[in-house]
Amino acid sequence: MASDILDYHILHLPHDPSSITLHLPSYKSFRLFSLQTSPRSFGSTHARELAFSDEEWSSRLTNPAANTFTASASSKAQENENGSPQTLCSNTILGPLPYSPTSYSADPNPWNAISQSIHTLTDRDLFAAASRPLHFRINGVFTHPSARGKGLAKKLIDESLSFAKSWAAERGEGEAVVSIIVDSDNPAAVGLYRKAGFKLVKEMELAPREDGSVRDALFMTLRLDAEKF
Ligand SMILES: CC(C)(COP(=O)(O)OP(=O)(O)OC[C@H]1O[C@@H](n2cnc3c(N)ncnc32)[C@H](O)[C@@H]1OP(=O)(O)O)[C@@H](O)C(=O)NCCC(=O)NCCS
Repeated sequence: MASDILDYHILHLPHDPSSITLHLPSYKSFRLFSLQTSPRSFGSTHARELAFSDEEWSSRLTNPAANTFTASASSKAQENENGSPQTLCSNTILGPLPYSPTSYSADPNPWNAISQSIHTLTDRDLFAAASRPLHFRINGVFTHPSARGKGLAKKLIDESLSFAKSWAAERGEGEAVVSIIVDSDNPAAVGLYRKAGFKLVKEMELAPREDGSVRDALFMTLRLDAEKF
């Protein structure tokens, strides 16, 4: 990997419609690339999301309960064909969720809990419907294979944790819990979350993959308490 790969910038993708028009093409292509490149790392599949309508894609970015962080190459040499910066790493933090982190039986796909009525959902509604302590879920963590091992995923996890802390603190909440579900046979991801401070809460079995293979997973959480705010 060229050394200029470390020259990157971080973006918290905005929710307003004109910004979404700008960011949607690279968001969508990076997400599809991640599902194609690492099919065993995610609950979703490339085929499923390839069939998403434009509306479904843009609702992922307009949803006030979904906040996406990306790291993109700053070097012009790494621009995409359409002149946009190449995305190197991305993750989304969902929440606050309407169910607590101890609801293990809740649908492991947190998008299902936040996708209803997003066009009328406000921050106030989210706050009113949220479980206590506030519960966020990190989802869709992926680093481009050419940029791995350089600290990008850890950096974006830290951005997501700071976001959750600020969201809670601004609303007078003294604590928040961030959760993650990771396949047990994914040592890079498990190592990443341990490094970020997540602790194992429970081992769980997810619905089998489309090929019928069993998915053993770890449910991990990180508590953000008032002292750390
Ligand atoms: C998991 C993944 C996101 C890590 O991204 P990355 O940008 O390379 O990770 P970072 O460079 O930020 O690494 C941070 C820490 O994670 C751990 N880690 C990263 N890669 C690792 C590996 N291959 N083996 C063990 N631990 C690893 C290390 O503790 C590392 O800290 P260190 O370098 O100081 O030891 C990346 O490998 C990836 O995209 N994998 C495919 C998709 C995936 O599995 N996503 C997770 C779904 S839950």
